[in-house]
Amino acid sequence: MRSEQGKVGSGQPSSMDRRELLRLAGLSSLAMFARPALFGAEAEVDVDLMLTASPGETALLPGAPTQVWRFAGSLVKGPADTLQVLPGSYLGPVIRLRTGQRVRVRFVNKLGEASIVHWHGLDVPESCDGHPRLAIADGAEYVYEFTVTNRAGTYWYHPHPHMRTGPQVYRGLAGLVLVRDAEEEALSLPSGDAELFCVLQDRRFDRRNQLVYSSGGMMGGMDGFLGDRVIVNGQAETIRNIDTGWLRVRLLNGSNARIYQLAWSHGLQMAVIGGDGGLFERPRVQAALTLAPGQRADVLLDLSAIDAGTEVNLESRAFNEADAGRAGMMGMNSAVPNGAPLRVMTLRTRRHLAPPFQLPARLSAFDASWTVQGDARVRRVPLAFLGMQWTIGGRTFVMNEVAADEIVSAGSTHIWEFVNVAGRMGVQAAHPMHLHGRQFRVLSRNGSGSNSLRDGISDAGWVDTVLVLPGETVRVQVPFSRHLGTFMYHCHILEHEDMGMMRNFRVV
Ligand code: C2O
Ligand code: CU
Ligand code: CU
Repeated sequence: MRSEQGKVGSGQPSSMDRRELLRLAGLSSLAMFARPALFGAEAEVDVDLMLTASPGETALLPGAPTQVWRFAGSLVKGPADTLQVLPGSYLGPVIRLRTGQRVRVRFVNKLGEASIVHWHGLDVPESCDGHPRLAIADGAEYVYEFTVTNRAGTYWYHPHPHMRTGPQVYRGLAGLVLVRDAEEEALSLPSGDAELFCVLQDRRFDRRNQLVYSSGGMMGGMDGFLGDRVIVNGQAETIRNIDTGWLRVRLLNGSNARIYQLAWSHGLQMAVIGGDGGLFERPRVQAALTLAPGQRADVLLDLSAIDAGTEVNLESRAFNEADAGRAGMMGMNSAVPNGAPLRVMTLRTRRHLAPPFQLPARLSAFDASWTVQGDARVRRVPLAFLGMQWTIGGRTFVMNEVAADEIVSAGSTHIWEFVNVAGRMGVQAAHPMHLHGRQFRVLSRNGSGSNSLRDGISDAGWVDTVLVLPGETVRVQVPFSRHLGTFMYHCHILEHEDMGMMRNFRVV
């Protein structure tokens, strides 16, 4: 394992000053001990949850149960369908929220090591963002209080402690957050039995059914850790019985490092209706969908022409391993490298019972509200392997460091240009770049050469994670939040993140 060592060529770090540190210390102790002060009266939240992370076990494979870590939830206050426990799963409960709700989550850490929860995709205040400096010790409690301001969409939660995100997520600590709003409800999208959510995670098991993981050294860190089989929703069962009408499938790539290029059997096309930040303006019909770690997709599938009793497969189709990168140990990391074809899950159709549904031509008015500001400044952010580390803008993560070009003013819009350049000896990888708390737009993507993963990338709508392929330059336009403070941006290959491919940005 790498220790918490120096940064590579960091520019002009303006380290967080003492006052700032005290302010943050104050924030977290406020949250822990004086919680009513944050929202005024104690009872003002709409949803109140307990979320406890602890070791446990689950029957994933035939034979011995698998030791996992997981989130268990309990509902203190709120609508009865707020928490959905997935039977036999290592994943945390699905948390169903609604735009506008005020939410309190009491997180209890019983892992035996430090942890903190991050709400991936949600625009929350600094104290709720799960920055590693806010990690709490084993036995401690951290209280989150925030208002759901995001639109309807598929979001998720996972731990974010310093250098331990990869192993903690891999052991099972993750869960979905499904937000709904009036705009989405007005579409009457397929629901109930006609709506599936699928958290895709690859895992490797030893002969006694225990999870195998290594993040140390070159093996894990350079390429990211890959499993050799896909687990869907943290459950053993990957066959679903569904009706032969329209189906809504919400996908999350919750894997540490694997990139999927998803396609359905029987020549089924998918109508992609949304991404990380909710619904697109219009559906996009695609045969393949590239989904990198951290990314979500909302997909409608028309199964009405499929006979009952058919098995429809979701597969990650074969692609050239080099399209996901050219790191040193390529192919030696896993028996099933990136690009190897993988069965994800199977839908077994039964007689059509679903009510008729027509794919709407227009899904959301939201995209139309976006105006590009002509004079936004462009910040160039090279991604490269330098000095044996993955770097962002030539730097690696330092807990309290924010460089001058990482400071933005609240409510401002910036263009960041991620440039994926080859490091020494041509070492290069695809990096899913993620910003905390913000949904942004992809303005352009320029790539040299052909890359089969590009086929499945739509770059539509609002995203919080954008895949930057080797040799590509991807421009994104980010409207920064009104929430002040220090947030992070990083590569969502969790081993890259843990190795330091992460930086702070500060909203002032
Ligand atoms: Cu899901 Cu900091 O990330
Ligand atoms: Cu995030
Ligand atoms: Cu990366």
